Amino acid sequence: MTMASAVVILRPGYYSETCPRAEFIVRDVMKKALIREPRSVASVMRFQFHDCFVNGCDASMLLDDTPTMLGEKLALANINSLRSYEVVDEVKDALEEACPGVVSCADIIIMASRDAVALTGGPDWEVKLGRLDSLTASQEASDAIMPSPRSNATYLMDLFNKFNLSVKDLVALSGSHSIGQGRCFSIMFRLYNQSGTGMPDPAIDPRFKEKLYNLCPLNGDQNVTGDLDATPHVFDNQYFKDLVSGRGFLNSDQTLFTVAQTRKFVRQYSVNQREFFEAFVEGMIKMSDLQVDQPGEIRRNCRVANQKTAKTMWES
Ligand code: HEM
Ligand SMILES: *[C@@H]1O[C@H](CO)[C@@H](O)[C@H](O)[C@H]1NC(C)=O
Ligand SMILES: *[C@@H]1O[C@H](CO)[C@@H](O)[C@H](O)[C@H]1NC(C)=O
Ligand SMILES: *[C@@H]1O[C@H](CO)[C@@H](O)[C@H](O)[C@H]1NC(C)=O
Ligand SMILES: *[C@@H]1O[C@H](CO)[C@@H](O)[C@H](O)[C@H]1NC(C)=O
Repeated sequence: MTMASAVVILRPGYYSETCPRAEFIVRDVMKKALIREPRSVASVMRFQFHDCFVNGCDASMLLDDTPTMLGEKLALANINSLRSYEVVDEVKDALEEACPGVVSCADIIIMASRDAVALTGGPDWEVKLGRLDSLTASQEASDAIMPSPRSNATYLMDLFNKFNLSVKDLVALSGSHSIGQGRCFSIMFRLYNQSGTGMPDPAIDPRFKEKLYNLCPLNGDQNVTGDLDATPHVFDNQYFKDLVSGRGFLNSDQTLFTVAQTRKFVRQYSVNQREFFEAFVEGMIKMSDLQVDQPGEIRRNCRVANQKTAKTMWES
């Protein structure tokens, strides 16, 4: 078993010799997932954020818990929330069939996220590849890093800055909420007790607030989901138009229209979709470059580190 350092040189066309159809195969599975369940591609796109912010883009968030390791799937930001892991399994199965042991799960997340955006009407771009998969995951690191939906703009700007992501990157990348859904659980505080005031967030448009109260009554099922913007199946700049009119779903969305540094970009993207797309691609590429120095491998199964499988087999 070769085990290399995960700080690697990433480049476009990394699999052109070893698995020339890799990018085509990923897109094909994503197309099928989109037809089966439109939301699933948004759910997969979210993986890039939750993977890359926690010890770099190393597919650590795909590892299942083991008796000796608490994985990231049950971390605060992920439990009962991240979904569509089976789509990544399908991609991996198709790739293992075409070119066994060649394409990393970390690269699958990057390709599939790009495809989710391109397939729903957003920009398409060339991704750099060559990542390795981690041997472990860290629930602790995820809990320490992943932002809560309550986050305010100041907190988010600081957090993104820690990853060398600018205010512009923060606003553009938040535009990923142009597709997909969130749970009532994520907005109860904002509807009923913003900042402990016993009152709703004053930034919500009154008519939109009525809609959210109907969706998420005080004693209702908090797993019920609502759309993150008015066009949740289309990757467009509607998300920013919604923020301008007080119709952001999460506090972490609407807050971007409450301070000057972020509001500037929200306004700009709300009227210029091309500028949003350009900034979004730039942000996605920067985020996909995050790496930490740690051992890596090409996992055979995205849910399990290879040597764990070997050890289990050896023990039994
Ligand atoms: C800026 C900080 C961010 C915060 C606080 C945040 C938080 C959230 C929350 C709370 C949800 C709904 C989860 C639920 O209620 O179960 C969500 C959904 C989503 N997030 Fe983010 N997010 C952020 C940035 C990002 C970024 C950078 C991306 C990707 C580039 C992303 C992609 C998504 C997508 C696509 C969904 C919808 C998923 C689905 O429908 O299953 N988010 N986010
Ligand atoms: C933003 O959130 C942070 C962390 O929760 C908090 O310390 C800070 O006071 C908040 N800032 C504003 C302006 O509300
Ligand atoms: C941010 O950039 C600095 C300076 O180039 C670098 O030392 C640091 O490792 C970067 N941080 C991350 C999280 O990539
Ligand atoms: C609202 O939040 C504050 C502070 O967290 C808490 O003390 C209070 O009990 C909450 N009120 C309700 C109605 O949940
Ligand atoms: C949502 O559903 C999950 C899984 O069925 C359950 O464990 C959890 O308690 C529910 N969460 C809320 C906030 O209702």
